[in-house]
Amino acid sequence: MYNTRLDGLTDYPFQRLASLLVGIEPPRGTAPIVMSIGEPQHPAPALLAETLAANADGWGKYPPTAGTPEYRNTVAAWCTQRFGLPGEFLDPDLNVLPLAGTREGLFMAAQLCIPPRKNGGTPAVLMPNPFYQVYVGAAVMSGAEPILVPAVKDTGFLPDYAAVSETDLARTAMAYLCTPANPQGTVANLDQLKTMIRLAREHDFVLISDECYSEIYDEAPPPGALQACAELGEGLANVLVFNSLSKRSSVPGLRAGFVAGDADLIAKFSKLRAHGGAVQPLPVMAAATALWADEAHVDANRRLYRAKTGDAERILQEKFGFYRPEGGFFLWLDVGDGEKAAQNLWQSAAVKVLPGAYLARETGPGDTNPGASYIRVALVHDQQRTSAALTRLAETLSASCQ
Ligand SMILES: Cc1ncc(COP(=O)(O)O)c(C=O)c1O
Repeated sequence: MYNTRLDGLTDYPFQRLASLLVGIEPPRGTAPIVMSIGEPQHPAPALLAETLAANADGWGKYPPTAGTPEYRNTVAAWCTQRFGLPGEFLDPDLNVLPLAGTREGLFMAAQLCIPPRKNGGTPAVLMPNPFYQVYVGAAVMSGAEPILVPAVKDTGFLPDYAAVSETDLARTAMAYLCTPANPQGTVANLDQLKTMIRLAREHDFVLISDECYSEIYDEAPPPGALQACAELGEGLANVLVFNSLSKRSSVPGLRAGFVAGDADLIAKFSKLRAHGGAVQPLPVMAAATALWADEAHVDANRRLYRAKTGDAERILQEKFGFYRPEGGFFLWLDVGDGEKAAQNLWQSAAVKVLPGAYLARETGPGDTNPGASYIRVALVHDQQRTSAALTRLAETLSASCQ
Protein backbone atom coordinates (compact mmCIF):
# COMPACT_ATOMS: atom_id res chain seq x y z
CA MET A 1 0.00 0.00 0.00
CA TYR A 2 1.35 3.42 -0.93
CA ASN A 3 0.19 6.79 -2.22
CA THR A 4 -0.30 6.15 -5.94
CA ARG A 5 -0.10 9.90 -6.66
CA LEU A 6 3.65 9.24 -6.55
CA ASP A 7 3.28 7.47 -9.90
CA GLY A 8 2.51 10.88 -11.41
CA LEU A 9 6.12 11.96 -10.80
CA THR A 10 9.19 11.16 -12.87
CA ASP A 11 12.46 10.26 -11.17
CA TYR A 12 14.37 13.32 -9.99
CA PRO A 13 16.58 14.86 -12.77
CA PHE A 14 19.86 13.75 -11.17
CA GLN A 15 18.70 10.12 -11.07
CA ARG A 16 17.69 10.37 -14.71
CA LEU A 17 21.10 11.78 -15.54
CA ALA A 18 22.81 8.93 -13.67
CA SER A 19 20.78 6.43 -15.75
CA LEU A 20 21.64 8.27 -18.97
CA LEU A 21 25.35 8.04 -18.20
CA VAL A 22 25.44 4.39 -17.10
CA GLY A 23 28.28 2.60 -18.88
CA ILE A 24 29.86 5.85 -20.14
CA GLU A 25 33.33 6.48 -18.72
CA PRO A 26 35.00 9.91 -18.78
CA PRO A 27 38.41 9.94 -20.48
CA ARG A 28 41.29 8.68 -18.35
CA GLY A 29 43.59 11.37 -17.04
CA THR A 30 41.00 14.18 -17.35
CA ALA A 31 39.62 15.38 -14.01
CA PRO A 32 35.81 15.20 -14.03
CA ILE A 33 33.98 18.49 -13.41
CA VAL A 34 30.34 18.30 -12.29
CA MET A 35 28.24 21.21 -13.56
CA SER A 36 24.89 19.44 -13.48
CA ILE A 37 23.89 20.45 -9.97
CA GLY A 38 23.28 24.00 -8.73
CA GLU A 39 25.28 23.55 -5.56
CA PRO A 40 27.47 26.61 -4.88
CA GLN A 41 31.08 25.61 -4.21
CA HIS A 42 32.39 29.07 -3.23
CA PRO A 43 33.87 28.97 0.29
CA ALA A 44 31.32 29.55 3.06
CA PRO A 45 31.78 32.90 4.88
CA ALA A 46 33.92 32.72 8.06
CA LEU A 47 30.98 34.23 9.95
CA LEU A 48 29.21 30.90 9.67
CA ALA A 49 31.59 28.77 11.73
CA GLU A 50 32.06 31.57 14.28
CA THR A 51 28.35 32.03 14.99
CA LEU A 52 27.61 28.30 14.97
CA ALA A 53 30.30 27.75 17.61
CA ALA A 54 29.16 30.71 19.72
CA ASN A 55 25.60 29.34 19.85
CA ALA A 56 26.35 25.69 20.59
CA ASP A 57 24.10 25.69 23.67
CA GLY A 58 21.11 25.73 21.29
CA TRP A 59 21.67 22.12 20.20
CA GLY A 60 19.92 20.96 23.36
CA LYS A 61 16.62 22.68 22.49
CA TYR A 62 13.80 22.05 20.04
CA PRO A 63 13.57 25.14 17.84
CA PRO A 64 10.14 26.85 17.84
CA THR A 65 8.19 26.81 14.53
CA ALA A 66 8.16 30.60 14.43
CA GLY A 67 11.94 30.72 14.91
CA THR A 68 13.65 33.35 17.05
CA PRO A 69 12.57 37.03 17.14
CA GLU A 70 16.14 37.90 16.05
CA TYR A 71 15.78 35.79 12.90
CA ARG A 72 12.37 37.19 11.96
CA ASN A 73 13.49 40.78 12.68
CA THR A 74 16.67 40.40 10.65
CA VAL A 75 14.82 38.86 7.69
CA ALA A 76 12.16 41.61 7.77
CA ALA A 77 14.90 44.28 7.93
CA TRP A 78 16.75 42.62 5.04
CA CYS A 79 13.61 42.52 2.86
CA THR A 80 12.78 46.12 3.75
CA GLN A 81 16.24 47.35 2.81
CA ARG A 82 16.73 45.14 -0.25
CA PHE A 83 13.32 45.84 -1.83
CA GLY A 84 12.89 49.43 -0.62
CA LEU A 85 9.72 48.61 1.35
CA PRO A 86 7.97 51.18 3.56
CA GLY A 87 9.11 50.89 7.21
CA GLU A 88 6.01 49.20 8.60
CA PHE A 89 5.14 47.12 5.55
CA LEU A 90 6.43 43.82 7.01
CA ASP A 91 5.61 42.82 10.56
CA PRO A 92 8.31 40.30 11.56
CA ASP A 93 5.84 38.41 13.77
CA LEU A 94 2.94 38.31 11.31
CA ASN A 95 4.55 38.21 7.89
CA VAL A 96 7.71 36.08 8.27
CA LEU A 97 8.38 32.40 9.02
CA PRO A 98 11.76 30.64 9.00
CA LEU A 99 12.26 27.61 6.78
CA ALA A 100 14.90 24.89 6.81
CA GLY A 101 15.80 25.82 3.22
CA THR A 102 13.08 26.76 0.76
CA ARG A 103 12.72 23.43 -1.03
CA GLU A 104 10.76 21.92 1.81
CA GLY A 105 8.69 25.09 2.26
CA LEU A 106 7.87 25.31 -1.46
CA PHE A 107 6.69 21.70 -1.32
CA MET A 108 4.65 22.19 1.82
CA ALA A 109 3.05 25.38 0.44
CA ALA A 110 0.89 23.15 -1.75
CA GLN A 111 -0.60 21.50 1.34
CA LEU A 112 -1.32 24.97 2.66
CA CYS A 113 -2.88 26.47 -0.46
CA ILE A 114 -4.66 23.64 -2.28
CA PRO A 115 -8.24 22.95 -1.19
CA PRO A 116 -9.98 19.63 -2.03
CA ARG A 117 -11.97 21.40 -4.85
CA LYS A 118 -11.90 24.91 -6.31
CA ASN A 119 -15.08 26.32 -7.91
CA GLY A 120 -16.33 22.75 -8.32
CA GLY A 121 -13.26 21.53 -10.23
CA THR A 122 -9.99 19.75 -9.54
CA PRO A 123 -7.63 22.42 -8.22
CA ALA A 124 -4.91 23.48 -10.63
CA VAL A 125 -1.37 24.75 -10.01
CA LEU A 126 0.25 26.98 -12.61
CA MET A 127 3.97 26.66 -13.14
CA PRO A 128 6.56 27.55 -15.75
CA ASN A 129 7.80 24.91 -18.17
CA PRO A 130 10.78 24.25 -17.67
CA PHE A 131 10.36 24.33 -13.89
CA TYR A 132 12.05 23.57 -10.56
CA GLN A 133 11.06 19.95 -9.95
CA VAL A 134 9.60 20.52 -6.52
CA TYR A 135 6.67 22.46 -8.05
CA VAL A 136 5.23 19.46 -9.90
CA GLY A 137 5.93 17.15 -6.97
CA ALA A 138 4.12 19.46 -4.58
CA ALA A 139 1.09 19.88 -6.84
CA VAL A 140 0.71 16.21 -7.70
CA MET A 141 1.17 14.97 -4.14
CA SER A 142 -1.48 17.45 -2.96
CA GLY A 143 -4.04 16.12 -5.46
CA ALA A 144 -3.86 19.11 -7.82
CA GLU A 145 -3.31 19.18 -11.55
CA PRO A 146 -0.13 20.93 -12.67
CA ILE A 147 -0.73 23.29 -15.59
CA LEU A 148 2.56 23.82 -17.39
CA VAL A 149 2.87 27.23 -18.98
CA PRO A 150 5.63 27.65 -21.58
CA ALA A 151 8.62 29.72 -20.40
CA VAL A 152 10.51 29.55 -23.68
CA LYS A 153 12.50 31.87 -25.90
CA ASP A 154 9.32 33.18 -27.57
CA THR A 155 7.76 34.13 -24.21
CA GLY A 156 10.96 35.81 -22.97
CA PHE A 157 11.69 32.67 -20.89
CA LEU A 158 8.88 33.62 -18.46
CA PRO A 159 5.38 32.10 -18.17
CA ASP A 160 2.42 34.24 -19.25
CA TYR A 161 -0.22 33.28 -16.68
CA ALA A 162 -2.68 35.85 -18.00
CA ALA A 163 -2.90 33.74 -21.18
CA VAL A 164 -4.25 30.71 -19.26
CA SER A 165 -7.92 30.02 -20.05
CA GLU A 166 -10.60 31.49 -17.79
CA THR A 167 -11.82 27.95 -16.98
CA ASP A 168 -8.37 26.94 -15.75
CA LEU A 169 -7.82 30.22 -13.90
CA ALA A 170 -11.12 29.67 -12.07
CA ARG A 171 -9.82 26.40 -10.58
CA THR A 172 -6.25 27.61 -10.02
CA ALA A 173 -5.31 27.39 -6.34
CA MET A 174 -1.73 28.54 -6.64
CA ALA A 175 0.92 29.59 -9.15
CA TYR A 176 4.66 29.17 -8.85
CA LEU A 177 6.89 31.86 -10.29
CA CYS A 178 10.68 31.52 -10.28
CA THR A 179 12.53 34.83 -10.62
CA PRO A 180 15.41 34.90 -11.41
CA ALA A 181 14.39 31.73 -13.21
CA ASN A 182 16.08 28.36 -12.88
CA PRO A 183 17.22 27.30 -15.46
CA GLN A 184 16.92 30.30 -17.85
CA GLY A 185 18.19 33.12 -15.60
CA THR A 186 15.37 35.49 -16.63
CA VAL A 187 14.06 38.13 -14.25
CA ALA A 188 10.40 39.22 -14.05
CA ASN A 189 10.20 43.03 -14.05
CA LEU A 190 7.98 44.99 -11.66
CA ASP A 191 5.14 45.34 -14.17
CA GLN A 192 5.13 41.60 -14.82
CA LEU A 193 5.12 40.92 -11.08
CA LYS A 194 2.23 43.33 -10.54
CA THR A 195 0.24 41.73 -13.37
CA MET A 196 0.67 38.31 -11.75
CA ILE A 197 -0.30 39.60 -8.32
CA ARG A 198 -3.44 41.25 -9.74
CA LEU A 199 -4.31 38.02 -11.54
CA ALA A 200 -3.88 36.02 -8.31
CA ARG A 201 -6.20 38.39 -6.45
CA GLU A 202 -8.76 38.51 -9.23
CA HIS A 203 -8.99 34.70 -9.38
CA ASP A 204 -8.26 34.12 -5.70
CA PHE A 205 -5.19 31.94 -5.94
CA VAL A 206 -1.85 32.22 -4.14
CA LEU A 207 1.20 33.49 -6.00
CA ILE A 208 4.30 31.68 -4.77
CA SER A 209 7.31 33.75 -5.76
CA ASP A 210 10.48 31.66 -5.57
CA GLU A 211 13.29 34.22 -5.36
CA CYS A 212 16.23 32.16 -4.10
CA TYR A 213 18.52 33.43 -6.89
CA SER A 214 17.66 37.10 -6.26
CA GLU A 215 21.13 38.02 -4.96
CA ILE A 216 23.12 36.47 -7.80
CA TYR A 217 22.58 39.04 -10.52
CA ASP A 218 24.55 40.39 -13.44
CA GLU A 219 23.73 44.11 -13.51
CA ALA A 220 20.65 45.35 -11.67
CA PRO A 221 19.25 43.79 -8.47
CA PRO A 222 16.10 41.88 -9.55
CA PRO A 223 12.85 43.27 -8.15
CA GLY A 224 10.74 40.98 -5.98
CA ALA A 225 7.06 40.30 -5.32
CA LEU A 226 7.19 42.10 -1.94
CA GLN A 227 8.28 45.26 -3.74
CA ALA A 228 5.52 44.81 -6.33
CA CYS A 229 2.96 44.44 -3.51
CA ALA A 230 4.23 47.59 -1.80
CA GLU A 231 3.92 49.55 -5.06
CA LEU A 232 0.43 48.20 -5.73
CA GLY A 233 -0.54 49.52 -2.30
CA GLU A 234 -2.97 46.76 -1.34
CA GLY A 235 -0.93 44.87 1.25
CA LEU A 236 0.31 41.32 0.85
CA ALA A 237 -2.93 39.43 0.13
CA ASN A 238 -2.50 36.23 -1.95
CA VAL A 239 1.31 36.46 -2.06
CA LEU A 240 4.05 34.35 -0.48
CA VAL A 241 7.72 35.00 -1.23
CA PHE A 242 10.42 32.39 -0.63
CA ASN A 243 14.11 33.14 -0.29
CA SER A 244 17.15 31.31 0.99
CA LEU A 245 20.80 31.61 1.98
CA SER A 246 21.81 28.59 -0.11
CA LYS A 247 22.78 30.60 -3.18
CA ARG A 248 23.15 34.09 -1.67
CA SER A 249 25.71 32.98 0.90
CA SER A 250 26.96 29.73 -0.74
CA VAL A 251 25.70 27.57 2.11
CA PRO A 252 23.35 24.99 0.54
CA GLY A 253 24.09 22.60 3.40
CA LEU A 254 23.00 25.04 6.11
CA ARG A 255 19.30 24.72 5.22
CA ALA A 256 18.26 28.27 6.00
CA GLY A 257 15.51 30.26 4.33
CA PHE A 258 12.24 32.03 4.94
CA VAL A 259 8.76 32.64 3.62
CA ALA A 260 7.28 36.16 3.84
CA GLY A 261 3.89 37.48 2.83
CA ASP A 262 0.13 37.43 3.49
CA ALA A 263 -0.39 37.42 7.29
CA ASP A 264 -3.39 35.08 7.13
CA LEU A 265 -1.48 32.53 5.04
CA ILE A 266 1.60 32.85 7.26
CA ALA A 267 -0.52 32.12 10.37
CA LYS A 268 -2.02 29.05 8.68
CA PHE A 269 1.41 27.97 7.44
CA SER A 270 2.70 28.21 11.02
CA LYS A 271 -0.15 25.95 12.18
CA LEU A 272 0.61 23.42 9.41
CA ARG A 273 4.34 23.53 10.08
CA ALA A 274 3.82 22.93 13.80
CA HIS A 275 2.50 19.50 12.77
CA GLY A 276 5.17 18.47 10.29
CA GLY A 277 7.63 21.16 9.27
CA ALA A 278 11.39 20.97 9.78
CA VAL A 279 12.68 24.07 11.58
CA GLN A 280 16.31 25.21 11.55
CA PRO A 281 18.11 24.20 14.77
CA LEU A 282 18.81 27.23 17.00
CA PRO A 283 22.59 27.40 16.35
CA VAL A 284 21.84 27.28 12.60
CA MET A 285 19.27 30.03 13.01
CA ALA A 286 21.80 32.19 14.87
CA ALA A 287 24.34 31.66 12.08
CA ALA A 288 21.68 32.38 9.45
CA THR A 289 20.72 35.59 11.29
CA ALA A 290 24.34 36.77 11.09
CA LEU A 291 24.51 35.93 7.37
CA TRP A 292 21.30 37.81 6.47
CA ALA A 293 22.75 40.84 8.30
CA ASP A 294 25.98 40.84 6.27
CA GLU A 295 26.28 41.98 2.64
CA ALA A 296 30.07 41.99 2.24
CA HIS A 297 30.30 38.24 1.57
CA VAL A 298 27.33 38.44 -0.83
CA ASP A 299 29.07 41.17 -2.81
CA ALA A 300 32.19 39.04 -3.12
CA ASN A 301 30.06 36.07 -4.16
CA ARG A 302 28.33 38.10 -6.86
CA ARG A 303 31.64 39.44 -8.20
CA LEU A 304 32.94 35.89 -8.59
CA TYR A 305 29.82 34.80 -10.52
CA ARG A 306 30.13 37.85 -12.76
CA ALA A 307 33.74 37.03 -13.52
CA LYS A 308 32.77 33.46 -14.44
CA THR A 309 29.92 34.67 -16.65
CA GLY A 310 32.45 36.96 -18.36
CA ASP A 311 34.72 33.95 -18.97
CA ALA A 312 31.75 32.04 -20.37
CA GLU A 313 30.96 34.89 -22.74
CA ARG A 314 34.57 34.97 -23.95
CA ILE A 315 34.82 31.19 -24.36
CA LEU A 316 31.40 30.47 -25.86
CA GLN A 317 30.91 33.77 -27.73
CA GLU A 318 27.60 33.40 -29.54
CA LYS A 319 27.67 29.63 -29.81
CA PHE A 320 24.77 27.49 -28.59
CA GLY A 321 22.51 30.53 -28.15
CA PHE A 322 24.70 31.83 -25.29
CA TYR A 323 23.36 34.88 -23.46
CA ARG A 324 24.39 36.42 -20.14
CA PRO A 325 21.74 35.38 -17.59
CA GLU A 326 20.22 38.38 -15.76
CA GLY A 327 20.24 36.39 -12.54
CA GLY A 328 21.29 33.04 -11.08
CA PHE A 329 24.34 31.03 -12.09
CA PHE A 330 23.15 28.73 -14.86
CA LEU A 331 23.89 28.77 -18.56
CA TRP A 332 20.95 27.54 -20.64
CA LEU A 333 22.53 26.43 -23.89
CA ASP A 334 20.71 25.34 -27.01
CA VAL A 335 22.76 22.40 -28.28
CA GLY A 336 20.21 20.66 -30.49
CA ASP A 337 19.84 17.46 -28.45
CA GLY A 338 20.48 17.94 -24.73
CA GLU A 339 20.69 14.25 -23.82
CA LYS A 340 23.14 13.48 -26.60
CA ALA A 341 25.26 16.50 -25.66
CA ALA A 342 25.32 15.43 -21.99
CA GLN A 343 26.54 11.95 -22.97
CA ASN A 344 29.10 13.35 -25.35
CA LEU A 345 30.43 15.87 -22.81
CA TRP A 346 30.83 13.19 -20.15
CA GLN A 347 32.48 10.72 -22.49
CA SER A 348 34.79 13.13 -24.32
CA ALA A 349 35.38 15.99 -21.88
CA ALA A 350 34.60 14.60 -18.38
CA VAL A 351 32.15 17.48 -17.92
CA LYS A 352 28.78 16.59 -16.40
CA VAL A 353 25.82 18.78 -17.41
CA LEU A 354 22.06 18.32 -17.11
CA PRO A 355 19.87 17.71 -20.19
CA GLY A 356 17.20 20.43 -20.29
CA ALA A 357 14.52 17.81 -21.01
CA TYR A 358 14.79 16.63 -17.39
CA LEU A 359 13.72 20.08 -16.18
CA ALA A 360 10.60 20.24 -18.34
CA ARG A 361 7.62 18.17 -19.41
CA GLU A 362 6.02 17.41 -22.75
CA THR A 363 3.07 19.72 -23.42
CA GLY A 364 1.00 21.17 -26.23
CA PRO A 365 -0.37 19.74 -29.42
CA GLY A 366 2.91 18.18 -30.60
CA ASP A 367 3.69 16.89 -27.08
CA THR A 368 7.00 18.71 -27.25
CA ASN A 369 9.46 19.09 -24.41
CA PRO A 370 10.64 22.74 -24.35
CA GLY A 371 13.92 21.74 -22.68
CA ALA A 372 14.84 18.96 -25.10
CA SER A 373 17.35 20.92 -27.16
CA TYR A 374 19.05 22.52 -24.12
CA ILE A 375 21.61 21.70 -21.48
CA ARG A 376 21.87 23.45 -18.11
CA VAL A 377 25.39 24.28 -16.98
CA ALA A 378 25.94 25.39 -13.36
CA LEU A 379 28.82 27.85 -12.89
CA VAL A 380 29.32 26.80 -9.27
CA HIS A 381 33.02 25.94 -9.11
CA ASP A 382 35.92 28.34 -8.68
CA GLN A 383 36.86 30.52 -11.64
CA GLN A 384 39.73 28.37 -12.87
CA ARG A 385 37.82 25.07 -12.81
CA THR A 386 34.77 26.69 -14.37
CA SER A 387 36.81 28.20 -17.16
CA ALA A 388 38.60 24.88 -17.81
CA ALA A 389 35.25 23.08 -17.97
CA LEU A 390 33.74 25.65 -20.34
CA THR A 391 36.76 25.44 -22.65
CA ARG A 392 36.42 21.65 -22.81
CA LEU A 393 32.65 22.00 -23.31
CA ALA A 394 33.02 24.49 -26.19
CA GLU A 395 35.68 22.37 -27.93
CA THR A 396 33.72 19.15 -27.61
CA LEU A 397 30.37 20.51 -28.72
CA SER A 398 31.88 22.55 -31.56
CA ALA A 399 33.66 19.42 -32.83
CA SER A 400 30.46 17.36 -32.73
CA CYS A 401 28.51 20.06 -34.58
CA GLN A 402 30.93 20.12 -37.55
C1 LIG B 1 14.44 27.41 -8.22
C2 LIG B 1 14.84 26.88 -6.89
N1 LIG B 1 14.03 27.08 -5.85
C3 LIG B 1 14.34 26.61 -4.63
C4 LIG B 1 15.51 25.90 -4.40
C5 LIG B 1 15.74 25.34 -3.05
O1 LIG B 1 16.84 25.86 -2.41
P1 LIG B 1 17.06 25.69 -0.87
O2 LIG B 1 16.17 24.57 -0.40
O3 LIG B 1 18.48 25.34 -0.73
O4 LIG B 1 16.66 26.98 -0.24
C6 LIG B 1 16.39 25.66 -5.47
C7 LIG B 1 17.60 24.89 -5.26
O5 LIG B 1 18.32 24.51 -6.12
C8 LIG B 1 16.05 26.18 -6.74
O6 LIG B 1 16.84 25.99 -7.81
